Amino acid sequence: MAKTVKEHLINALANGDFVSGQMLGEQLEISRTAISRHVKALTEMGLDIYSVTGKGYKLSQPLSLLKQSKIVSALAKGDLTPEVEVHSLIDSTNNYLLRRLPNQLSQGQVCLAEFQSSGRGRRGRQWVSPFGSQIYLSMYWYLEQGLSAAMGLSLITALAVSDAIYSLTNTQVQLKWPNDIYLDGAKLAGILIDLEGQALEPCHSVIGIGLNLNMPEQAAQHIEQKWTDLQSHCKSHIDRNLLSAQLIYHLLKRLHQHQHEGLVSMLDEWNEQDFYLNKRVKLLTGERITKGICRGVNNQGALMLEVDGHVKPIYGGEVSLRGDE
Ligand code: BTN
Repeated sequence: MAKTVKEHLINALANGDFVSGQMLGEQLEISRTAISRHVKALTEMGLDIYSVTGKGYKLSQPLSLLKQSKIVSALAKGDLTPEVEVHSLIDSTNNYLLRRLPNQLSQGQVCLAEFQSSGRGRRGRQWVSPFGSQIYLSMYWYLEQGLSAAMGLSLITALAVSDAIYSLTNTQVQLKWPNDIYLDGAKLAGILIDLEGQALEPCHSVIGIGLNLNMPEQAAQHIEQKWTDLQSHCKSHIDRNLLSAQLIYHLLKRLHQHQHEGLVSMLDEWNEQDFYLNKRVKLLTGERITKGICRGVNNQGALMLEVDGHVKPIYGGEVSLRGDE
């Protein structure tokens, strides 16, 4: 029930006009105190709502909400048409798809949300997910090549995010192995891949993308690393529905390329956009720090790290890369 009330309030406020608390209470058959409690919860979710006595509640800026029909019609111009679901409030788009495994999902099925209450980042971190201003997108992919090809998924997803951003805004991002997207030296987007299956057999994957588009000030205070958002780098307004459609389109395209031609067909593109290529880096594995020079990635998607003159492959897992200038 609480979710329905919040969704009603969001839709009522979305166009940026004043809406009276009394009218909202009458429509929803709840008290004005209850309305004010829900509005407070919405502000805690990242919405900037203020109230004026005698006028009611108002958003500081109109919302441009995600619309399934707009995303699907933008996708229909291409030849790839997956199932797309848009949720207002969700725990995590990755969790939502994982709950539907193994047989309630179709290949390429997408889940998008305006808000995640338990957005997950890599290495057990939280992914701060304020309402209505960023992109939280997950796609289901049955990986025929099996778990051994999973390392490549992060890399091809990063390339797909780069493709989508470039095709919509002409902005060239950089990629940080294994799954971060950088712009002007700060993190713009992250990728989280969940896998389910047995070694040596095809497996299920859920590919999650979190992309900062318009970071609200309040949410920014909870982010520990250096971040940026896409809108700050672009003069014209970025439409979230079009950006979502581009992400879906390019991700599917890269996944098909991966399936038919393998990761090797994309390595040159990865190396061209590699943030750390031929730079000194520190590799963090738990408490352990290994220093070396980044020499790109190999055919399996492993990082090639040069340590004391020897280049050795580093396979994913819970590792993180930092500059070491
Ligand atoms: C990272 O850089 O740590 C990865 C962040 C991945 C965040 C996305 S948002 C959509 C999907 N749902 C989640 O709970 N996480 C991923």
